[in-house]
Amino acid sequence: MSDAPFAIREARDEDRRPLALLIAEVADERDGIATEPPVDVDARAASWNLHGSLVAVANGELVGNIHVEATRFGFGEIGMAVARPWRGRGVGAALLTAAIEWSREAGLHKLSLAVFPHNEAAIALYRKFDFVEEGRLVKQFRRSSGELWDAVQMGLLL
Ligand SMILES: CC(C)(COP(=O)(O)OP(=O)(O)OC[C@H]1O[C@@H](n2cnc3c(N)ncnc32)[C@H](O)[C@@H]1OP(=O)(O)O)[C@@H](O)C(=O)NCCC(=O)NCCS
Repeated sequence: MSDAPFAIREARDEDRRPLALLIAEVADERDGIATEPPVDVDARAASWNLHGSLVAVANGELVGNIHVEATRFGFGEIGMAVARPWRGRGVGAALLTAAIEWSREAGLHKLSLAVFPHNEAAIALYRKFDFVEEGRLVKQFRRSSGELWDAVQMGLLL
């Protein structure tokens, strides 16, 4: 299944639930994204902002997403996730390429994101696309375990 081709496209209304389920699945890992379980899938699906959301689809299934939250100050904030069986196969790079193109077309001048310092895969991906480290947010995220996690702020001028 993981060798099948995938395509990137803008998210549509019918992607809402698969998007929320993907976030719930990745949240269960408790190490890559800020969201932790339990995820209210219905609420997340209903409130998903489709504008700026791109999805990776393989065999008719949603296998990854990236969201650019465009601010009115000219920068966009990125969040992304790839389903575990699909990682390491170029889906993340394809999503980020498409998001950069979308952001340029939307007239944004910069992309920003915060990533946990232990998230080596994500940091390597962002560096590969010339994002630079702009600072460290100390003890920024309180986890459900009670731990306080730092985050690395990264940015890319478009
Ligand atoms: C981070 C994530 C999106 C990467 O997606 P992916 O589809 O696995 O990435 P790709 O296969 O496109 O890899 C692109 C580049 O990322 C880097 N990378 C990916 N996985 C890596 C790993 N396990 N270790 C080190 N670098 C890695 C490499 O630079 C790679 O380029 P290369 O193949 O030329 O070496 C994915 O691991 C993921 O969804 N993780 C959980 C959620 C998460 O952490 N989201 C980001 C929150 S800030």
